[in-house]
Amino acid sequence: MVHASDPLIASVRKPLPPAQFDTLSREILELKRRHNAVILAHNYQVPEIQDVADFVGDSLGLSQQAAKTSADVIVFCGVHFMAETAKILNPTKRVILPDRDAGCSLEESCPASKLRALQATNPDFYTIAYINCSAEVKALSDCIVTSGNAVKIVEHAPKDRPLLFVPDENLGAWVMEQTGRPMTLWKGNCYVHVEWTHQAITRIRQQFPGAPLVAHPECTRSVRMLADEVCSTEKMVTWCRKTPAKDIIIATEAGMLHRLQKECPDKHFIPAPTDRCACNECHFMKMNTLEKLRDCMTTLEPQVELPPEIIERARKPIERMLEISALPVENAG
Ligand code: 13P
Ligand code: SF4
Repeated sequence: MVHASDPLIASVRKPLPPAQFDTLSREILELKRRHNAVILAHNYQVPEIQDVADFVGDSLGLSQQAAKTSADVIVFCGVHFMAETAKILNPTKRVILPDRDAGCSLEESCPASKLRALQATNPDFYTIAYINCSAEVKALSDCIVTSGNAVKIVEHAPKDRPLLFVPDENLGAWVMEQTGRPMTLWKGNCYVHVEWTHQAITRIRQQFPGAPLVAHPECTRSVRMLADEVCSTEKMVTWCRKTPAKDIIIATEAGMLHRLQKECPDKHFIPAPTDRCACNECHFMKMNTLEKLRDCMTTLEPQVELPPEIIERARKPIERMLEISALPVENAG
């Protein structure tokens, strides 16, 4: 059994005192009713936010929910590019987020101007962009992917075009391994997922010899090669439900542990340690708090605003992604 006091384990975030949680969640539910709002939360959000959300999921599930919602206001608890995606799919609706500054290291690594310059070196490039990028980068892309559908979408990409994959080199390399399709990879990465090392994972596996390792494809190859399963955060839930194993090591952001524990109460999840510190939290994701959620639903600010021409151009590759995702497997290739 691993305890929170184990130095290998990430610092345990203090939950809100129950009375404060009850008051805030009551206010949030009332605001939700008043504004006909829907609360979408990513699997990496703090437990309190996950517990009041209408839907908790991965980037793909959240985009699918955003595409079909009938709510007037979308409250997006995740990072900025996720809220932007919801806005692109719902240009006439108000999309708000608890903290406008919640960014992403992958998004930062790929400014639109630099992508445009690379695309100019080969006009044939078919550009596939991981959803973790800005609306401007999406507008320059042919198709968007998430970690949950990247393999399927690359298999569906035109066979006669060279593929450019941005901005995550680790997800891109994993997709190349899965599909056998060469791609030019942008040199970006997730600052959280590259912290896990072969050495640290080997150590925890020795401590829990029978426990399978489930890793996110944003991890480096040296970690992915040790994993029993490499998948998106939502697929982690399905995989962990099915496996007969009781102890499971998880190499992804710490918020996932709350979701997994809720979905699989009979299992024991071990957060994969890193070498340097217990740094498996995305500080961008953790900028959102229950108080900020209540505040943004009170003022309906900050809201996502994007130029109409960017919305129009960015919408096509997102819709292409949603269409291909919905195809049965045999028709998607
Ligand atoms: P998922 O789509 O698998 O939830 O991943 C999102 C993300 O930001 C991973 O770091
Ligand atoms: Fe971006 Fe990494 Fe945070 Fe995901 S975990 S939002 S990829 S910085």
